[in-house]
Amino acid sequence: MFDPASVIPEFPILDQSIQGRPLVYLDNAATTQKPMAVLLSSRHYYESINSNIHRGTHHLARMATEQFEKARQTIANHLGAASSDEVIFTSGATDGINLVAEILGLSGRIQPGDEVLISTLEHHSNIVPWQLLCQRSGATLKVIPCHEDGTLDQTAFVGLLSSRTKILALTWISNSFGTINPIAEMATVAKNAGALVLIDAAQAAAHLRIDVQALDIDFLVFSGHKVYAPTGIGVLWGRAEILNALPPWKGGGEMIKEVTFEKTTYNELPFKYEAGTPNIEGAIALGAALDFIHDLGLSGIQKHEEKLIRSAADALSGISGIHFYGPSDRAGALSFNFAGIHHYDLGTLMDQMGVAVRTGHHCCQPLMARFGITGTVRASFALYNTESDVQALAAATEKAVSMLR
Ligand code: ALA
Repeated sequence: MFDPASVIPEFPILDQSIQGRPLVYLDNAATTQKPMAVLLSSRHYYESINSNIHRGTHHLARMATEQFEKARQTIANHLGAASSDEVIFTSGATDGINLVAEILGLSGRIQPGDEVLISTLEHHSNIVPWQLLCQRSGATLKVIPCHEDGTLDQTAFVGLLSSRTKILALTWISNSFGTINPIAEMATVAKNAGALVLIDAAQAAAHLRIDVQALDIDFLVFSGHKVYAPTGIGVLWGRAEILNALPPWKGGGEMIKEVTFEKTTYNELPFKYEAGTPNIEGAIALGAALDFIHDLGLSGIQKHEEKLIRSAADALSGISGIHFYGPSDRAGALSFNFAGIHHYDLGTLMDQMGVAVRTGHHCCQPLMARFGITGTVRASFALYNTESDVQALAAATEKAVSMLR
């Protein structure tokens, strides 16, 4: 059985005091802390095998290449991909979404009058790249509305789909409200309407099991830093037949087969989309992070986190005047406000009690506008959080609220 107490020592950053109180880190939807396995992986890379990949015949270059490609295979296994060729290293989820939007635009598949469908729950990174694509192509951005409880309006979704819908780009878990979208069902409906489907798994990657082959989707993106790996590394998974049919985007070394001044031919997947020297250490460390969570057991982690977030909602619901956002069946993030109290003031006081939460719009300004608010206080959970963190969260919130009333 998964025991969070036994993994806490693996995360050295957690062993510190903030303002004289033990750190309670509940900003995991923004970024997760890194276990020793990841820290040692990065250190080992630079101490022992730092070299450029796929380019040298010398020992270090071979070692670095081998570790880099091993990490790609670990990620492919984690995603349930048919082949590691479908795993493209990016700098993060944002980079992956931009890459897909750019190559769809360049392919000529998006024409004036076509539509791109997203949802009200999206992070800016799954809004702005599509707005840019629409501006350049003459397509229209359509948005699936959400209900008061922060779930998507499925009837409206079906009504928005048509033969003009070229792609559905949807978050799996809302980073603001923790809503878990029924992506399998929605993907099937969208595919039946002829649309491509991209899933933003930036939040889901740390909380849910992913199986891209079981899901009827075409693209999935996530960021390493939200799943215990360093910043600056991420993944775009794309169905090989689609990526093979789409044009390259960034030009440079590695993505080519042959270059003359007259003409260039392009490399095969995944290298076609990996121009330039990649984040080698980050990719290897991402492999180490995924090995770490698999060794602990994904289903045990998931059960632990589900229990924790329910317990946090229960503990906070005792504080008078609290308003929660999102459905009660949520993952990762728990968002709330108190009438007459600014989320920023609340978060600032909580920080003085050692409790790290995020306040503000969480990069979801349209979602906040939908609910007529400027932001929320958001507590977000990871595998190393415990029931005592939940109690500290509730106590700090209650105290801060009483100071501000
Ligand atoms: N997307 C990150 C968050 O939700 C930064 O906090």
